[in-house]
Amino acid sequence: MRNKISMGIGMLCTGLFIIFFTSCETNVEEDTIIEDMVGMEEEPCIASYTDDIQAIIANNCLSCHSGTQFPDLRTYQGVSTNAGIVKTQVVNRTMPIGGALTNEEIELIRCWVDNGAPNN
Ligand code: HEC
Repeated sequence: MRNKISMGIGMLCTGLFIIFFTSCETNVEEDTIIEDMVGMEEEPCIASYTDDIQAIIANNCLSCHSGTQFPDLRTYQGVSTNAGIVKTQVVNRTMPIGGALTNEEIELIRCWVDNGAPNN
């Protein structure tokens, strides 16, 4: 009698365990699908290093970041290597010190970095 009860409890626990984990996995998949759908609705943004980024950097950053002050932003190489921190500093408006970028300029930099900082 005792053995049957504990066996029953054991099976119940195993069952709950399986349900718990499979329901978890289903949720994860649903979340991923929803994220994908949100991502698809977003308009893909376009920003060119040569046409957009270079001028913004030249006009707002090179007075300080031309060699001695890290990061050196004079070349594509210098900007792309530091793309992550450039984006952070610009988006949270820490940079440029003593100046300000327009929302459009900030958006162009964010877009260009999010696109993988291409040499375009
Ligand atoms: C007036 C001078 C000045 C200008 C203009 C300026 N910076 Fe800076 N920048 C600094 C100084 C000084 C530091 C280092 C000290 C600090 O972080 O405050 C720095 C640091 C940085 C860093 C490094 C932060 C880190 O994590 O180490 C980045 C990235 C940066 N600047 C990007 C930019 C960009 C992009 C622009 C133009 C939109 C810009 N800066 C304009 C002076 C300037």
